[in-house]
Amino acid sequence: MLSARGILQEIHRNDEAFRLFCSIAAKGENQGGWENGRIAALVADPELAPKIARHGADEDKHGRIFNAMLHRRGLDPVDVPPEADYCMLLERQGIGLAHDRLRRDEPMTEADIVEYLVHSRVTEQRAAEDMRMLHRCLGDEPDVGRGLRMICDDEENHLAYCHEELLRLSARGDEAGIGRALRKVARAEIKVNRDVSLAVMERMGRLLDWSRGRRLTLKAGIHAVYAYDRLWGTRRMVRLRPPKRVDALGPKPAAPHRAA
Ligand SMILES: [Fe+2]
Ligand SMILES: [Fe+2]
Repeated sequence: MLSARGILQEIHRNDEAFRLFCSIAAKGENQGGWENGRIAALVADPELAPKIARHGADEDKHGRIFNAMLHRRGLDPVDVPPEADYCMLLERQGIGLAHDRLRRDEPMTEADIVEYLVHSRVTEQRAAEDMRMLHRCLGDEPDVGRGLRMICDDEENHLAYCHEELLRLSARGDEAGIGRALRKVARAEIKVNRDVSLAVMERMGRLLDWSRGRRLTLKAGIHAVYAYDRLWGTRRMVRLRPPKRVDALGPKPAAPHRAA
């Protein structure tokens, strides 16, 4: 029987498949870390900049966690095939702030900040959902469970923060523009997610020697997810709601003072 749990456990058990999986994940996290770090350095707003910096530090930490999972198994990361590079494919579609822009030492404009937050709102939705699934399926594995739980919790924070900041900007007047931008990014993201899923599945199929029937079934599943995302799922990626976790990336409360 094909299930997400069965497939993820199969990947986890196989060194080469696990190596590819963690390498793809680590590269995406590291890229997110670098982007957020650059944006934080170019944002003048004294309330927003530290939150973006924390967002970047979290993504860097996630990259280190996935690399540590490899290290623990005595594996080195492998190069990520371009067709499985989610962040790069999104950037190529003109989604989010281009790396050329981020390398220039020019302060972020209000429009740049909206673009950053809209891109993050959509991609953090995907990250939070993917991590929930990974944690559900592999959370009991002693070598990866704790790391996955930590990343899962952080991604929920990131998503909450994006809702909160975009709602703040919407209330200041450009609700319609933000809504349009969100829909544009979500449409591009669900296509890129489908293409990357197909590319990863193809590689995993070769590494794990999947039968033709199994590959075809998985391919059909990915297309079904894409159709669902296009028809009904876009809404969950673009709506803005006040999050349950308030000020999720705000200053951490100081540790309780203990009397000497
Ligand atoms: Fe992350
Ligand atoms: Fe994140």
